[in-house]
Amino acid sequence: METTADVAQTFRALVANRHSTRGFLPEPVPDEVVQELLQTAQLSPSWCNVQPWRTYLLGGGAVTELSARMMAVKEVPEHFDVPQPERYTGVHQERRRESGYALYGALGIAREDRQRRLEQAWENYRFFGAPHLAIITSTTLLGSYAYVDTGAYIAHLVLAARSFGLGSIALAAIGGRSDVVRPALQIPDDEVVIAGVAFGWEDHDHPVNAFRTTRADLDEVVVRVDRLPRGE
Ligand SMILES: Cc1cc2nc3c(=O)[nH]c(=O)nc-3n(C[C@H](O)[C@H](O)[C@H](O)COP(=O)(O)O)c2cc1C
Repeated sequence: METTADVAQTFRALVANRHSTRGFLPEPVPDEVVQELLQTAQLSPSWCNVQPWRTYLLGGGAVTELSARMMAVKEVPEHFDVPQPERYTGVHQERRRESGYALYGALGIAREDRQRRLEQAWENYRFFGAPHLAIITSTTLLGSYAYVDTGAYIAHLVLAARSFGLGSIALAAIGGRSDVVRPALQIPDDEVVIAGVAFGWEDHDHPVNAFRTTRADLDEVVVRVDRLPRGE
């Protein structure tokens, strides 16, 4: 019989074995699997169970056509519906740099090689060769917590993908091309584009898939409070 410890171990293994895939095989995923994947992600919690996300599921020619439209404007400044960070500082900048260097290291791209870094950034607009792209929007009618719920949905989607043996990657870069996405998918005014999630079978031979990111120690992110200061 499966015990709580078994379930925890299985879940931990699933989470620990997920990573962002940046090189996919072109073969599509069977429809039944995609359906199951979306059904699983749909179990994500949300405040008052409002489920404020919408998923535009692109496959086949729609993926290549959207990619072509994005590549056509790759040098035009990005346009996000939800404001992107203005700058990264302190520990956030350090973590961002570390993961960036790991990515370039895996690909043998020198830090000062601006052209190759740019070309790698444009791979976002090819969805790293994934045959499927989910574009996730959220409603504007419920304020910022709807975006929090939508982030939880994205996390469920990438973990569910892993559980089906698929690779996936969340793509804020797609949010940065809302100028292309909105007209292409006729997204209504009361929705904002949050991100894409590209998924498919991982290309295990692609060097970009070989690196792994690290995480901060718990004492950097967990504040334990066992007793409140007097008088507060
Ligand atoms: C909301 C969100 C947006 C992201 N956007 C991008 C993106 O546009 N391009 C990219 O290469 N990776 C993107 N990522 C992947 C992150 O870089 C990655 O999750 C992080 O470095 C941790 O690595 P891991 O997913 O392999 O554990 C995104 C991840 C999240 C959660």
